[in-house]
Amino acid sequence: MKIKGCIFDLDGVIVDTAKYHYLAWKELAEKLGFNFSEKDNEKLKGVSRMHSLDILLETGKKDFDKKTKLKFAENKNKKYLEYILKMTPEEILPGVIDFLEDLQNKNIKIALGSASKNAMTILNRLKLKNYFEIVIDGTKVSKAKPDPEVFLKAAEELKVKPGECIVFEDAEAGIEAAINGKFKCVGIGSPKTLSKADYVISNFKNITFDDIIKQL
Ligand code: BG6
Ligand code: MG
Repeated sequence: MKIKGCIFDLDGVIVDTAKYHYLAWKELAEKLGFNFSEKDNEKLKGVSRMHSLDILLETGKKDFDKKTKLKFAENKNKKYLEYILKMTPEEILPGVIDFLEDLQNKNIKIALGSASKNAMTILNRLKLKNYFEIVIDGTKVSKAKPDPEVFLKAAEELKVKPGECIVFEDAEAGIEAAINGKFKCVGIGSPKTLSKADYVISNFKNITFDDIIKQL
């Protein structure tokens, strides 16, 4: 089937924001008196803010009422925003701009499908907004990945069928969401972790749309 659209996850695919999420969550863990390692942080990739907090608290064997948890999440986000508001377009991951331009030249539609409520802030900071015809982010969905809602909404708004679309994802939950929605999917990262994807690349450096199509 002919590919007509591409949907990109944001964190870990377009830009490495995981390190900023990590610093902000680690600060909260330390305030609560436990350590939160980079390995622990892997479990938060692709996961919504409140679910991330639950995983973090589970790691430290802590439990709090809902109101306190909302306050923790709000404070973590304030810290995270301090980091992302300092980001510059130099932080866009290697090859991403060339790949987006290749898609534009080939008239392939482009959307963003992210769990983050900060997606628009990040796209604006990185001066990337204009590449994306459609942006579906954490403010527009009610079901978290691995539910395919975010990608199905993006495909619907792009007016393409899931089977005509490639999803680019770095998180296992995101790959599962793509599979659940019957999309083609390309993993960004290690083939070992992302073995369920149709094809895995380590990054977009020197990668063209035709290189990807050949592998699907
Ligand atoms: C995902 C990240 O893209 O967005 C997760 O991989 C993050 O780590 C989630 O928790 C929600 O992000 P935000 O910006 O709404 O807190
Ligand atoms: Mg991601």
